[in-house]
Amino acid sequence: MRISIYGLGLTMGLLALAGCGQGKTPATPVASAPTVHEAMANTVVPKSTALWETAAKATNDAGDPDGSKMTDAQWTQIAADAQAISDVANKLGNAETIKVLADPSLKIQDEGPQGASGAQVQAFIDKDPAAFKAFAKALAANSDAFVAAAHAKDAVKLGAASDALDGVCEACHMKFWYPPKPGAPPAT
Ligand code: HEC
Repeated sequence: MRISIYGLGLTMGLLALAGCGQGKTPATPVASAPTVHEAMANTVVPKSTALWETAAKATNDAGDPDGSKMTDAQWTQIAADAQAISDVANKLGNAETIKVLADPSLKIQDEGPQGASGAQVQAFIDKDPAAFKAFAKALAANSDAFVAAAHAKDAVKLGAASDALDGVCEACHMKFWYPPKPGAPPAT
């Protein structure tokens, strides 16, 4: 009898522990959002490089869009690369909080006297997280345009998505990675 009561107590203790753990898990999948640095380094940079390279093949000698230059495998590759960017951009766009670095000791590209540090970028984002998420959603939308063009094997739409991509990257970088310093002369 004693043993079974003890056993019950132990079970309840474990349940309480399990319940405690569950309480820390957010109900929404936002916990899976990567840091900005991870999203850039692991997905956005390599996949966008691949997208630009493959999309450039969909042109003829005159430089006009020409889907006949593309293999099925290349169209499939474009859809997959663009989907990967779309997924990670949506994760950032839907994240509850945006974190630049998982570990504050990590360095970001161009950090130094000229370029912002991870902590500075974090401060830029914390000032206007809604704008950051809107830029992330714009990247997702542009990536979805690549996917649609690939599915339709439409070289004109592919070219348009490819031309627009750089501006989508740049718009977010200008505001959150290297915004003009206060008091700096306007760019000429
Ligand atoms: C929603 C905002 C946003 C968009 C869109 C975005 N970036 Fe970034 N990117 C950032 C921020 C913020 C940083 C600075 C933090 C960092 O370097 O990790 C950054 C950093 C980078 C870096 C430097 C990474 C490093 O090693 O520190 C590269 C390269 C880069 N982005 C490329 C791109 C390209 C290419 C695109 C478009 C295909 C893009 N980014 C779209 C926000 C964005």
